[in-house]
Amino acid sequence: MTPEPFPFPDEPLGEVPRSCARRRAHEPLGDAVLPSGDVVHVAVRYADVEAVLTDPRFSRDLNRPGMPRLQPDADMSEDRDTLINLDPPRHTRLRRILARTFSVRSSEEWRPRIRSVVRELVDTMVEAGPPADLMASLARPLPIRVIAEILGVADGDLEQFRRWSEAAMTIGPERAAERARGRDEFYTYLRELVARHRREPGTDLLDAMIAAQEDGERLTEAELIDTARSLLLAGHETTMTTIGRGTFTLLRHREQYEDLVADPTLVPAAVEEIVRHDFPADVGFLRVATEDVDLPSGPVCQGRGVMPVISSAHRDDGQFADPDRFDIHRPATGHLGFGKGAHYCIGAPLARIQLQEALAALVRGVPGLRLDGSAEDVPWQPAMVTHALAALPVTW
Ligand code: HEM
Repeated sequence: MTPEPFPFPDEPLGEVPRSCARRRAHEPLGDAVLPSGDVVHVAVRYADVEAVLTDPRFSRDLNRPGMPRLQPDADMSEDRDTLINLDPPRHTRLRRILARTFSVRSSEEWRPRIRSVVRELVDTMVEAGPPADLMASLARPLPIRVIAEILGVADGDLEQFRRWSEAAMTIGPERAAERARGRDEFYTYLRELVARHRREPGTDLLDAMIAAQEDGERLTEAELIDTARSLLLAGHETTMTTIGRGTFTLLRHREQYEDLVADPTLVPAAVEEIVRHDFPADVGFLRVATEDVDLPSGPVCQGRGVMPVISSAHRDDGQFADPDRFDIHRPATGHLGFGKGAHYCIGAPLARIQLQEALAALVRGVPGLRLDGSAEDVPWQPAMVTHALAALPVTW
């Protein structure tokens, strides 16, 4: 039988694909053919996804022969010198250099600054009066401003960043040219940015990365540029998507938005439930088995590619009671929304702070917030790796 093509059709957009439920029940490690033409096992049950993320016998090293690819053309998996595409010991060395900046403690130092950016954005939206597009007013500008400030990127460059990272997140052959152009422009820009920081050193993350040494060894130019690119991409698209989708889901369950208005101490638990229920992508970072591995649902032979689907793991009723139900009061533990194991999201503390501050500012500042129109009419961005809203019309 020819394997089903991936991405699976997911009608309506923003829902976990229906074929994942069938696969979880009957075909937990079934095959799929990727846009590149490569065939991989798709892990859809929680136990299998968790095992693929944590078992060191699954490699992310893209230089390994036979490593599967998502796209037929250049994509993020081409960035050979960045954290998510490396195995130990190179991964360990690079991660150690970045760990201090992204620790819970260092990230918390950014909270006051994030709070003030959120306040400015929400105040501007409220002053302009209803209706508003919450994507344009808050979800889009916040994460890009935060990660650009941490890295040391000038405000004037943010709009083109947004375009490049949006192009990088597209999927499928029809947008390959846009993806390639965005990638080239982004690299040219980053090379110049690194050269400028070398000439005029400052105190931001890029300067720290330029100066960082591990066992007497500095980051190579390629590592610097690929890491800066992936931090800008990873630090921005996922957080933007999750702020938008999380607010949308809360407004579709308006009684739970009111619970937050009544008791804002529930915000951190609401953020965890949003990351579980609205995990923003069905595409998982591919792995290859470096030896034969027995996963909970069956064997994977050495050399086979596996794609872990986190959004599907979050709908596994063996792990979460009534998993399709959105419930900010459920225990906030056990989701894989920031991954697990060696590649656990380095930006998780920063993402959590942004999500918490955004929600806290909305429930305090705009307690009457509601959807402007019907949920069915809210537009989604098509053909993207992350499933983001194109706009979120709100009123109050
Ligand atoms: C809601 C927002 C976010 C979500 C849902 C998210 C999700 C994830 C997940 C699931 C992984 C693991 C992927 C895997 O193992 O296959 C990951 C890794 C990563 N994330 Fe995030 N992320 C978010 C925000 C951020 C932010 C704000 C940053 C940067 C500041 C960031 C940077 C990274 C990096 C660099 C990795 C790779 C880590 C490694 O390979 O060691 N992410 N993220």
